Amino acid sequence: MGGPVVLGIESSCDETGVGIVRDGKLLAHVVASSMDEHARFGGVVPEIAARAHLHAFNPVVRRALDEAGLRLSGIDAVAVTTGPGLSGALQVGLAGAKTLAYAAGVPLYGVHHLAGHVAADTLEHGPLPEPCVVLIVSGGHTSLLLVRDLVREPILHLGDTRDDAAGECFDKVARILGLPYPGGPAIDRAARDGDPKAVVFPRPLTRPGDDPYAFSFSGLKTAAARWVEQHRLRGAEPSVADGAAALQEAVADVLTRKALAACRAYDVKTLVVVGGVAANSRVRALAERRCASAGIGLRVPPMTLCTDNGAMIAAVGDLLVRAGAEPAPLDVTIDPSAPLEYACLTPLPAASTRAA
Ligand code: KG4
Ligand code: ZN
Repeated sequence: MGGPVVLGIESSCDETGVGIVRDGKLLAHVVASSMDEHARFGGVVPEIAARAHLHAFNPVVRRALDEAGLRLSGIDAVAVTTGPGLSGALQVGLAGAKTLAYAAGVPLYGVHHLAGHVAADTLEHGPLPEPCVVLIVSGGHTSLLLVRDLVREPILHLGDTRDDAAGECFDKVARILGLPYPGGPAIDRAARDGDPKAVVFPRPLTRPGDDPYAFSFSGLKTAAARWVEQHRLRGAEPSVADGAAALQEAVADVLTRKALAACRAYDVKTLVVVGGVAANSRVRALAERRCASAGIGLRVPPMTLCTDNGAMIAAVGDLLVRAGAEPAPLDVTIDPSAPLEYACLTPLPAASTRAA
């Protein structure tokens, strides 16, 4: 038999993801992406993303149920990303989630997108050790966290980015280098043929006296832009492969250096690296090498669970259900800029927010 079956829905950006989880085990994992529709604009167009979610929602839910061999009546709870993310995109996912929960007569849980990224790793590697240091690196966020019980305790931010996120830096520099969108995977591919030492890009906020856990990537983006510009002023084209390799090296160096410093300072034995940028081959390799030499265990989810998906939201929902968390009211709203404090995001219903 087993515990409750939780269906998770993710729609905060350009991926419509539906996952089904029971007792920490993945039963289904289906993602439809509108990435190709945004490529010619060089970034996600919110209105296109929202419409794509609307088209993808039913087929993706159906495929996930098929994959798990279940019908809607076999679902015991629905979890959905209610923030942060693109407003219209979140609205579509939440409306769909409410409909499913109402139709099935089961509780609904609002989940913080980034807590989903953290929980993604549990689907592959089991429960998180407590405490652990988590490095979240995505297109919109870069944070170093101290995580205890993910669904029962507040999440402690050791440091965050002061400007651009790591993924944003990859995406923007890729554009400058003339690489396609999304930039992160394109830089990763281009870097394979490059020399990471060909250019020495800065390592922001790594000097003595700097905040050891804060990040800043906008200066790195500017340095890369200036490097390209200097070549072009001389009438030369820079080596895209070298630029990509050097940028990737700088980002991976800063991320892993700070993450390991946090593990040492807090005497934590496990580092978890999650989010889209955790798919980067150099970030993974350097984290592995540095963790191994520091005697720290490293956990990184498999590639398909690093980028946005519904399974990670189902994973948080599963933990919430099993922790006896309070479900969201059916008039729960989205929170596009929700700060990461708790994994469960159940903002007050619109009416009571107004009355308060
Ligand atoms: O977590 P995610 O799928 O969506 C957000 O919540 O933002 O992360 C997307 C980000 C994008 O910036 C993308 O360029 C980056 O992750 N990314 C990568 C790689 N794969 C995805 N960055 C570097 N190397 C990769 N292989
Ligand atoms: Zn994400």
